[in-house]
Amino acid sequence: MLEELLRLRNPLQGRVLDPDQIYGPCMGNVFLKNIIADENLYIGDFTYAHVDHLEGDQILKSLVPYSFADKKLIIGKFCSIGWKVQFISPYANHQTTSFTTYPFWHIFSTHANIEPWLEGASKKGDTVVGNDVWFGRESMVMPGVQIGDGAIIAARATVAENVPPYALVAGNPGKIVKYRFSPEVIEKLLAIQWWNWDLEKVILHHAVLMGNDLEALSRLAHPNLQHEKI
Ligand SMILES: CC(C)(COP(=O)(O)OP(=O)(O)OC[C@H]1O[C@@H](n2cnc3c(N)ncnc32)[C@H](O)[C@@H]1OP(=O)(O)O)[C@@H](O)C(=O)NCCC(=O)NCCS
Repeated sequence: MLEELLRLRNPLQGRVLDPDQIYGPCMGNVFLKNIIADENLYIGDFTYAHVDHLEGDQILKSLVPYSFADKKLIIGKFCSIGWKVQFISPYANHQTTSFTTYPFWHIFSTHANIEPWLEGASKKGDTVVGNDVWFGRESMVMPGVQIGDGAIIAARATVAENVPPYALVAGNPGKIVKYRFSPEVIEKLLAIQWWNWDLEKVILHHAVLMGNDLEALSRLAHPNLQHEKI
């Protein structure tokens, strides 16, 4: 059944969806999970990025321009990542408390003390993005930020603070402009976690996911429960 569904032709592109392929069914999009082989970068199923003309290593270099080293970049499932979005590693920060920010140790290969730099990076921690997050074009995520499920990051936003689930953040510095739904609806969506359903169920019911009828979604999530009107 799943195989049959996956073979369904995308009515817009006339292409076939294969979760293990690199390129998504729409030109210029890649399923990132299938191109990233770095244990500190974890990308969930079906999270795709618009990479336009980039190929191979260029894709990763564009998305993650500096090494995350021992820090992690964790991105959930079904996220949409627009063109030229960048996730900045904690190690990309130069020292800010020293007289100079110039990295002599790096550029001149000196034996300068790099402890403060390492300490600065370790204070930042991992960067964690939830599921079903949409990143607008050229947005940037600063080191150690956590972004909740269902959030929207507007085009060219610079995210320097944590973003709660289903918030819309815009601007530089990125600020919450609004929440996409009421607190009650957000609570229900976070409990339903549709992104963890079987792929077959997701594909079969994608029209409900692309609508906003919470009663219909709750019925799918809990088919055996009696449903009150929401
Ligand atoms: C955020 C976005 C999705 C609009 O969402 P929306 O729910 O329709 O929000 P609105 O247009 O009503 O904007 C809400 C507020 O945010 C502001 N805003 C919207 N997008 C913004 C942006 N990129 N930067 C700064 N402010 C922005 C609006 O001016 C408005 O401000 P106000 O409340 O002071 O009037 C859209 O503006 C955006 O950035 N889309 C990204 C498109 C993209 O990059 N696509 C690539 C393909 S993946």
